Amino acid sequence: MASLAEKRIVLGITGGIAAYKSAELVRRLIDQGAVVQVVMTEAAKAFIAPLTLQALSGRPVRDSLLDPSAESGMGHIEIARWADQIIVAPASADFIARLEAGMASDLLTTVCLATSAPIALAPAMNQGMWNKPVTQRNIDRLAADGVELLGPASGAQACGDVGPGRMLEPGQIMDHLTSSGGVRVLDGTKVTITAGPTWEPLDPVRALSNHSSGKMGYAVATAAAAAGATVTLVSGPTALTPPAGIQYRPVQSAEEMLAAVEKGIEDCDVFIGVAAVADYRPAQTAASKIKKDAESVMLELIRNPDILARVAQSPKRPFTVGFAAETDQAIANARNKLKRKGLDLIAVNQVNETNNPFGSEENHLVLISKTDEIDLGRHSKSALAEHLILEIAHRYHEQHSA
Ligand code: PMT
Repeated sequence: MASLAEKRIVLGITGGIAAYKSAELVRRLIDQGAVVQVVMTEAAKAFIAPLTLQALSGRPVRDSLLDPSAESGMGHIEIARWADQIIVAPASADFIARLEAGMASDLLTTVCLATSAPIALAPAMNQGMWNKPVTQRNIDRLAADGVELLGPASGAQACGDVGPGRMLEPGQIMDHLTSSGGVRVLDGTKVTITAGPTWEPLDPVRALSNHSSGKMGYAVATAAAAAGATVTLVSGPTALTPPAGIQYRPVQSAEEMLAAVEKGIEDCDVFIGVAAVADYRPAQTAASKIKKDAESVMLELIRNPDILARVAQSPKRPFTVGFAAETDQAIANARNKLKRKGLDLIAVNQVNETNNPFGSEENHLVLISKTDEIDLGRHSKSALAEHLILEIAHRYHEQHSA
């Protein structure tokens, strides 16, 4: 699978001789499966023709803030919401100054101001301009605001000077974007994920449980962390090693899972319930091992709390995603759950002869929201998790910029 598959990238191009390198950058982004929307400043058009970039990206280049025909289609706010990532390459000194000042004086600065997507800049300018204290101050402030800086490189410049200010090569920018999971669509967000089964104790050595291995939930946690999120993984008992760089909270029962989820849920942006939580638990847990004297035993079971529904109904509710494993009428049942539990999105895996998601390496997921249904197909759990995270990020950002 291409490393930027279906990622929506706004490539901003500002005025500078390095703008010729942007054509190569568009080609490489497209090769990696990204959907690229080019936005140019007026000055950029003096260095490279919009038609070249339109031909390479397959989409009309956008260059005007006040374009009535464009605003009736994908206007500046739509572009800002649509983007998973904004890259400005080359980023001139003038553009950097306007961005730092919070100006919305052309389409590119307006999109950058309106978006909640991460922004990366590849500066390109004369070394004297780069070294000026005002440019360095602008750069420092933008970095403190979370804008990512790619370069600049140092060396011979088009004007004959030698020093820092050369735009990074398209290959170096691509290396950055495709390393560590590619575009960080969840940068700055806090994501809590439940995974695995729960164990509902009968006595000190026995429990009621199910066949969840945790693989799907751990894959979702890995994908969310690679997308830049701060991840808390609340996991029932599994044989898996927790992914690196996440906060891990191991639990056993549904009640313990609920307590671990509730800790910090007001501060959570996205909640994803992948765990196969036991719906019932034994009414009593024996203090010592139950003896097998009797021919039959009656177990009284009581309802466990519904963790997902509680999260969805909490006062500062995060974007809430559930999973559903269904044997019959999967889509209809999942739609019901989406509504009943008040979710933003539900991922359905059908349990039948061709797909048993419990414990397997692969799965087949269908995503359902109030307004749409997307069949993600049958893939490895890690590929599905990456696609799921991308869909969640699009919807989360749309909801938060609405
Ligand atoms: O762990 P693996 O082996 O990789 O398998 C993955 C999986 C099959 C467990 C996973 O893909 C999956 O489908 N998880 C949900 C399983 C399920 O049957 O859910 P449910 O229909 O019982 O519940 C629906 C949703 O409510 C789920 O998001 C569940 O986490 C949540 N729930 C359910 C009951 C409860 N008491 N609390 C909850 O939060």
